[in-house]
Amino acid sequence: MHIHRRPGWNRPESEVTPREWVMGRRALIGAGAMLALPTPGRAQLGAVPPLPPHTRNDRYPAGRALTAEREATTYNNFYEFGSHKGIWREAQRMPRRPWRLAVDGLVETPREFDIDELIRLMPIEERIYRLRCVEAWAMTVPWSGFPLKALMDLVRPLGSARYVAFQTAALPAVMPGLRQSWFPWPHMEGCTIAEAAHELTFMAIGMYGQPLPAQNGGPIRVLFPWKYGFKSGKSLVRITFQEQRPATFWATVQPQEYGFWANVNPAVPHPRWSQATERLLGTQERVPTVIWNGYGEWVADLYRGLEGERLFA
Ligand code: MTE
Repeated sequence: MHIHRRPGWNRPESEVTPREWVMGRRALIGAGAMLALPTPGRAQLGAVPPLPPHTRNDRYPAGRALTAEREATTYNNFYEFGSHKGIWREAQRMPRRPWRLAVDGLVETPREFDIDELIRLMPIEERIYRLRCVEAWAMTVPWSGFPLKALMDLVRPLGSARYVAFQTAALPAVMPGLRQSWFPWPHMEGCTIAEAAHELTFMAIGMYGQPLPAQNGGPIRVLFPWKYGFKSGKSLVRITFQEQRPATFWATVQPQEYGFWANVNPAVPHPRWSQATERLLGTQERVPTVIWNGYGEWVADLYRGLEGERLFA
Protein backbone atom coordinates (compact mmCIF):
# COMPACT_ATOMS: atom_id res chain seq x y z
CA MET A 1 0.00 0.00 0.00
CA HIS A 2 1.23 3.46 -0.78
CA ILE A 3 0.81 5.99 1.98
CA HIS A 4 -0.61 9.04 0.26
CA ARG A 5 0.95 12.34 1.19
CA ARG A 6 -0.49 15.72 0.36
CA PRO A 7 1.88 18.39 -0.92
CA GLY A 8 3.60 20.29 1.91
CA TRP A 9 1.32 23.36 1.64
CA ASN A 10 -1.86 21.32 2.02
CA ARG A 11 -1.75 20.03 5.57
CA PRO A 12 -4.77 18.37 7.11
CA GLU A 13 -5.98 20.18 10.19
CA SER A 14 -4.91 17.28 12.39
CA GLU A 15 -1.29 17.96 11.50
CA VAL A 16 -1.38 21.71 12.13
CA THR A 17 -1.57 21.02 15.84
CA PRO A 18 0.76 18.07 16.37
CA ARG A 19 -1.41 15.03 16.68
CA GLU A 20 -0.23 13.88 20.07
CA TRP A 21 -1.10 17.28 21.54
CA VAL A 22 -4.63 16.78 20.36
CA MET A 23 -4.75 13.21 21.70
CA GLY A 24 -3.07 14.05 24.96
CA ARG A 25 -4.60 17.49 25.48
CA ARG A 26 -6.07 16.71 28.87
CA ALA A 27 -2.73 15.34 30.05
CA LEU A 28 -1.06 18.49 28.81
CA ILE A 29 -3.06 20.96 30.83
CA GLY A 30 -0.39 22.42 33.03
CA ALA A 31 2.47 21.65 30.65
CA GLY A 32 2.28 25.36 29.80
CA ALA A 33 5.37 26.00 27.70
CA MET A 34 4.65 23.13 25.34
CA LEU A 35 1.22 24.44 24.49
CA ALA A 36 2.38 27.49 22.48
CA LEU A 37 0.49 27.56 19.20
CA PRO A 38 2.43 26.43 16.13
CA THR A 39 3.71 29.29 13.96
CA PRO A 40 2.67 28.57 10.37
CA GLY A 41 5.60 28.17 8.00
CA ARG A 42 8.24 27.73 10.70
CA ALA A 43 9.59 24.52 12.17
CA GLN A 44 8.16 24.10 15.65
CA LEU A 45 10.78 23.69 18.36
CA GLY A 46 10.53 20.06 19.38
CA ALA A 47 7.92 19.28 16.72
CA VAL A 48 8.04 15.87 15.10
CA PRO A 49 8.00 15.98 11.28
CA PRO A 50 5.65 13.65 9.39
CA LEU A 51 7.05 10.35 8.14
CA PRO A 52 8.64 10.35 4.70
CA PRO A 53 6.49 8.75 1.96
CA HIS A 54 6.89 4.98 1.98
CA THR A 55 5.16 1.80 0.90
CA ARG A 56 4.05 -1.36 2.70
CA ASN A 57 6.15 -4.51 2.61
CA ASP A 58 3.67 -7.41 2.51
CA ARG A 59 6.24 -10.18 2.79
CA TYR A 60 5.27 -11.05 6.36
CA PRO A 61 1.48 -11.52 6.51
CA ALA A 62 0.15 -10.88 10.00
CA GLY A 63 -2.93 -13.06 9.46
CA ARG A 64 -4.97 -10.97 11.88
CA ALA A 65 -7.06 -7.83 11.78
CA LEU A 66 -5.29 -4.64 12.81
CA THR A 67 -5.75 -3.52 16.39
CA ALA A 68 -7.62 -0.21 16.67
CA GLU A 69 -5.06 2.60 16.86
CA ARG A 70 -6.62 3.99 20.00
CA GLU A 71 -6.20 0.64 21.83
CA ALA A 72 -2.59 0.22 20.74
CA THR A 73 -1.67 3.75 21.81
CA THR A 74 -3.47 3.90 25.16
CA TYR A 75 -2.67 0.47 26.67
CA ASN A 76 1.09 0.29 27.14
CA ASN A 77 3.99 -1.04 29.13
CA PHE A 78 6.68 1.60 29.61
CA TYR A 79 7.94 1.38 33.18
CA GLU A 80 9.99 4.55 32.88
CA PHE A 81 6.65 6.40 32.98
CA GLY A 82 5.02 4.17 35.60
CA SER A 83 3.96 0.57 36.10
CA HIS A 84 0.33 0.94 34.96
CA LYS A 85 -1.18 0.58 31.49
CA GLY A 86 -2.31 4.23 31.23
CA ILE A 87 1.18 5.76 30.99
CA TRP A 88 0.34 7.36 27.61
CA ARG A 89 -0.70 10.44 29.53
CA GLU A 90 2.63 10.80 31.35
CA ALA A 91 4.55 9.96 28.14
CA GLN A 92 3.20 13.05 26.33
CA ARG A 93 5.72 15.11 28.31
CA MET A 94 8.71 13.40 26.70
CA PRO A 95 10.25 15.49 23.89
CA ARG A 96 10.93 13.41 20.77
CA ARG A 97 12.97 16.14 19.08
CA PRO A 98 15.80 16.80 19.05
CA TRP A 99 16.82 13.14 19.51
CA ARG A 100 20.15 11.45 19.05
CA LEU A 101 20.92 7.76 18.67
CA ALA A 102 24.50 6.54 19.22
CA VAL A 103 25.58 3.36 17.47
CA ASP A 104 28.90 2.24 18.91
CA GLY A 105 31.06 -0.52 20.37
CA LEU A 106 32.62 -3.12 18.08
CA VAL A 107 31.87 -1.45 14.75
CA GLU A 108 34.11 -0.05 12.01
CA THR A 109 32.46 3.39 12.08
CA PRO A 110 30.78 4.33 15.37
CA ARG A 111 28.29 7.15 14.79
CA GLU A 112 25.86 9.36 16.60
CA PHE A 113 22.85 10.11 14.45
CA ASP A 114 20.35 12.89 14.65
CA ILE A 115 17.07 10.98 14.33
CA ASP A 116 15.96 12.88 11.21
CA GLU A 117 19.31 12.32 9.55
CA LEU A 118 19.01 8.59 10.30
CA ILE A 119 15.48 8.47 8.87
CA ARG A 120 16.75 10.11 5.66
CA LEU A 121 19.50 7.51 5.36
CA MET A 122 17.37 4.42 5.94
CA PRO A 123 14.99 2.54 3.59
CA ILE A 124 11.67 3.30 5.31
CA GLU A 125 8.79 0.87 4.75
CA GLU A 126 5.66 -0.27 6.54
CA ARG A 127 5.21 -3.76 7.98
CA ILE A 128 2.29 -5.24 9.84
CA TYR A 129 3.58 -7.20 12.82
CA ARG A 130 1.94 -8.97 15.71
CA LEU A 131 3.24 -8.07 19.16
CA ARG A 132 2.70 -10.65 21.93
CA CYS A 133 3.29 -9.41 25.47
CA VAL A 134 4.55 -11.92 28.05
CA GLU A 135 1.46 -10.92 30.08
CA ALA A 136 -0.68 -12.72 27.44
CA TRP A 137 -2.19 -9.78 25.57
CA ALA A 138 -1.45 -9.09 21.92
CA MET A 139 -1.91 -6.52 19.19
CA THR A 140 -1.41 -6.26 15.42
CA VAL A 141 0.07 -2.97 14.27
CA PRO A 142 1.25 -1.33 11.03
CA TRP A 143 4.75 -0.12 11.97
CA SER A 144 6.91 2.16 9.82
CA GLY A 145 10.65 1.81 10.01
CA PHE A 146 13.64 -0.02 8.62
CA PRO A 147 15.43 -3.33 9.19
CA LEU A 148 18.18 -3.06 11.81
CA LYS A 149 20.37 -4.81 9.21
CA ALA A 150 20.33 -1.63 7.09
CA LEU A 151 21.84 0.31 10.01
CA MET A 152 24.37 -2.47 10.61
CA ASP A 153 25.46 -2.18 6.96
CA LEU A 154 26.21 1.49 7.62
CA VAL A 155 28.35 1.06 10.76
CA ARG A 156 29.74 -2.41 9.88
CA PRO A 157 30.07 -4.54 13.06
CA LEU A 158 33.47 -6.16 13.58
CA GLY A 159 33.86 -9.95 13.56
CA SER A 160 34.33 -9.84 17.34
CA ALA A 161 30.80 -8.43 17.90
CA ARG A 162 28.58 -11.25 19.20
CA TYR A 163 25.76 -9.35 20.90
CA VAL A 164 23.84 -6.10 20.54
CA ALA A 165 22.68 -3.99 23.51
CA PHE A 166 19.76 -1.54 23.21
CA GLN A 167 19.61 1.33 25.72
CA THR A 168 16.47 3.34 26.43
CA ALA A 169 16.53 7.05 27.31
CA ALA A 170 16.50 7.83 31.04
CA LEU A 171 15.04 11.34 31.49
CA PRO A 172 14.24 11.88 35.19
CA ALA A 173 12.47 15.21 34.52
CA VAL A 174 9.73 13.51 32.47
CA MET A 175 9.93 9.84 33.54
CA PRO A 176 8.43 9.42 37.03
CA GLY A 177 9.09 5.66 36.91
CA LEU A 178 12.82 6.28 37.28
CA ARG A 179 12.14 7.11 40.92
CA GLN A 180 11.48 3.39 41.44
CA SER A 181 15.14 3.02 42.29
CA TRP A 182 15.05 -0.77 42.73
CA PHE A 183 14.82 -1.12 38.94
CA PRO A 184 18.16 -1.29 37.07
CA TRP A 185 17.84 1.88 34.98
CA PRO A 186 18.52 2.66 32.22
CA HIS A 187 16.37 -0.02 30.61
CA MET A 188 18.62 -2.34 28.59
CA GLU A 189 17.65 -5.02 26.13
CA GLY A 190 19.77 -7.25 23.94
CA CYS A 191 20.04 -9.89 21.28
CA THR A 192 22.67 -11.88 19.43
CA ILE A 193 24.33 -10.51 16.32
CA ALA A 194 22.46 -13.12 14.22
CA GLU A 195 19.12 -12.00 15.67
CA ALA A 196 20.01 -8.36 15.04
CA ALA A 197 20.88 -9.05 11.40
CA HIS A 198 17.70 -11.08 10.84
CA GLU A 199 15.37 -9.59 8.25
CA LEU A 200 12.46 -9.43 10.72
CA THR A 201 14.31 -7.29 13.29
CA PHE A 202 12.85 -3.87 12.69
CA MET A 203 13.56 -0.37 13.95
CA ALA A 204 10.17 1.36 14.21
CA ILE A 205 9.86 5.12 13.80
CA GLY A 206 6.10 5.17 13.20
CA MET A 207 2.81 3.36 13.60
CA TYR A 208 -0.50 3.74 11.76
CA GLY A 209 1.26 6.04 9.28
CA GLN A 210 2.23 8.57 11.98
CA PRO A 211 5.48 9.23 13.86
CA LEU A 212 5.83 6.76 16.72
CA PRO A 213 4.10 8.17 19.82
CA ALA A 214 6.24 8.45 22.94
CA GLN A 215 4.17 5.85 24.80
CA ASN A 216 4.91 3.25 22.11
CA GLY A 217 8.64 4.01 22.14
CA GLY A 218 8.94 7.10 19.98
CA PRO A 219 10.92 8.36 18.32
CA ILE A 220 12.63 5.01 17.71
CA ARG A 221 12.36 1.48 19.11
CA VAL A 222 13.35 -2.03 18.16
CA LEU A 223 10.86 -4.83 17.36
CA PHE A 224 11.44 -8.59 17.52
CA PRO A 225 7.99 -9.86 16.50
CA TRP A 226 8.73 -13.51 17.37
CA LYS A 227 9.76 -12.69 20.95
CA TYR A 228 7.76 -11.55 23.95
CA GLY A 229 7.18 -7.82 23.77
CA PHE A 230 9.55 -6.96 26.61
CA LYS A 231 12.49 -7.59 24.26
CA SER A 232 11.33 -4.71 22.05
CA GLY A 233 13.05 -1.82 23.85
CA LYS A 234 11.57 1.66 23.45
CA SER A 235 12.83 5.22 22.93
CA LEU A 236 16.39 4.12 22.21
CA VAL A 237 19.42 6.37 22.68
CA ARG A 238 22.23 3.86 22.16
CA ILE A 239 22.85 0.62 20.28
CA THR A 240 26.12 -1.06 21.24
CA PHE A 241 27.82 -3.97 19.50
CA GLN A 242 29.77 -6.03 22.02
CA GLU A 243 31.42 -9.33 22.78
CA GLN A 244 29.58 -10.07 26.05
CA ARG A 245 25.89 -10.87 26.42
CA PRO A 246 24.30 -7.71 27.88
CA ALA A 247 22.54 -7.80 31.26
CA THR A 248 18.94 -7.12 30.25
CA PHE A 249 16.27 -5.35 32.30
CA TRP A 250 13.71 -8.02 33.14
CA ALA A 251 16.26 -10.84 33.28
CA THR A 252 18.07 -8.78 35.96
CA VAL A 253 14.88 -7.96 37.91
CA GLN A 254 13.30 -11.45 37.85
CA PRO A 255 15.73 -14.01 36.40
CA GLN A 256 13.49 -16.97 37.32
CA GLU A 257 10.64 -15.53 35.27
CA TYR A 258 12.29 -13.68 32.39
CA GLY A 259 15.35 -14.69 30.43
CA PHE A 260 17.55 -13.37 27.67
CA TRP A 261 15.91 -15.20 24.75
CA ALA A 262 12.17 -14.83 25.48
CA ASN A 263 10.93 -16.45 22.27
CA VAL A 264 7.15 -16.97 22.22
CA ASN A 265 6.04 -20.56 22.92
CA PRO A 266 2.53 -21.51 24.04
CA ALA A 267 3.82 -24.81 25.45
CA VAL A 268 6.18 -23.18 27.96
CA PRO A 269 4.14 -21.50 30.71
CA HIS A 270 5.32 -18.49 32.63
CA PRO A 271 5.91 -19.60 36.26
CA ARG A 272 2.72 -17.75 37.26
CA TRP A 273 0.41 -18.16 34.24
CA SER A 274 -0.20 -20.14 31.06
CA GLN A 275 1.11 -18.87 27.72
CA ALA A 276 -1.30 -21.09 25.72
CA THR A 277 -3.63 -18.24 24.70
CA GLU A 278 -3.60 -14.46 24.36
CA ARG A 279 -6.16 -11.65 24.59
CA LEU A 280 -6.43 -9.34 21.59
CA LEU A 281 -6.43 -5.66 22.57
CA GLY A 282 -9.69 -4.02 21.52
CA THR A 283 -11.93 -7.00 20.82
CA GLN A 284 -10.78 -8.84 23.99
CA GLU A 285 -11.08 -12.07 22.00
CA ARG A 286 -8.96 -14.93 23.37
CA VAL A 287 -7.01 -16.79 20.69
CA PRO A 288 -4.39 -19.56 20.75
CA THR A 289 -0.76 -18.43 20.96
CA VAL A 290 1.49 -19.74 18.18
CA ILE A 291 5.12 -20.80 18.62
CA TRP A 292 7.59 -18.06 17.57
CA ASN A 293 4.44 -15.87 17.54
CA GLY A 294 3.75 -17.29 14.07
CA TYR A 295 7.12 -16.28 12.58
CA GLY A 296 8.71 -19.76 12.79
CA GLU A 297 9.24 -20.15 9.05
CA TRP A 298 11.61 -17.18 9.21
CA VAL A 299 13.26 -17.50 12.61
CA ALA A 300 13.29 -21.13 13.82
CA ASP A 301 16.59 -21.78 12.02
CA LEU A 302 18.30 -19.06 14.06
CA TYR A 303 18.14 -21.38 17.07
CA ARG A 304 19.52 -24.65 15.65
CA GLY A 305 22.30 -25.80 17.96
CA LEU A 306 21.04 -23.62 20.82
CA GLU A 307 18.57 -26.19 22.20
CA GLY A 308 20.47 -26.23 25.52
CA GLU A 309 19.55 -22.56 26.12
CA ARG A 310 16.39 -21.37 27.90
CA LEU A 311 14.99 -20.22 24.56
CA PHE A 312 11.36 -19.70 25.61
CA ALA A 313 11.55 -17.66 28.82
N1 MTE B 1 10.87 -0.60 26.75
C1 MTE B 1 11.17 0.19 27.80
N2 MTE B 1 12.18 1.04 27.70
N3 MTE B 1 10.46 0.12 28.97
C2 MTE B 1 9.43 -0.77 29.13
O1 MTE B 1 8.81 -0.80 30.22
N4 MTE B 1 8.08 -2.55 28.11
C3 MTE B 1 8.16 -3.68 27.19
C4 MTE B 1 8.47 -3.23 25.77
N5 MTE B 1 9.52 -2.24 25.74
C5 MTE B 1 9.10 -1.62 28.04
C6 MTE B 1 9.84 -1.48 26.83
C7 MTE B 1 6.98 -4.52 27.20
S1 MTE B 1 6.74 -5.50 28.59
C8 MTE B 1 6.13 -4.60 26.14
S2 MTE B 1 4.87 -5.73 26.09
C9 MTE B 1 6.24 -3.67 25.02
O2 MTE B 1 7.29 -2.72 25.18
C10 MTE B 1 4.94 -2.92 24.87
O3 MTE B 1 4.97 -2.10 23.74
P1 MTE B 1 3.69 -1.19 23.42
O4 MTE B 1 3.45 -0.33 24.62
O5 MTE B 1 4.04 -0.45 22.19
O6 MTE B 1 2.55 -2.14 23.23
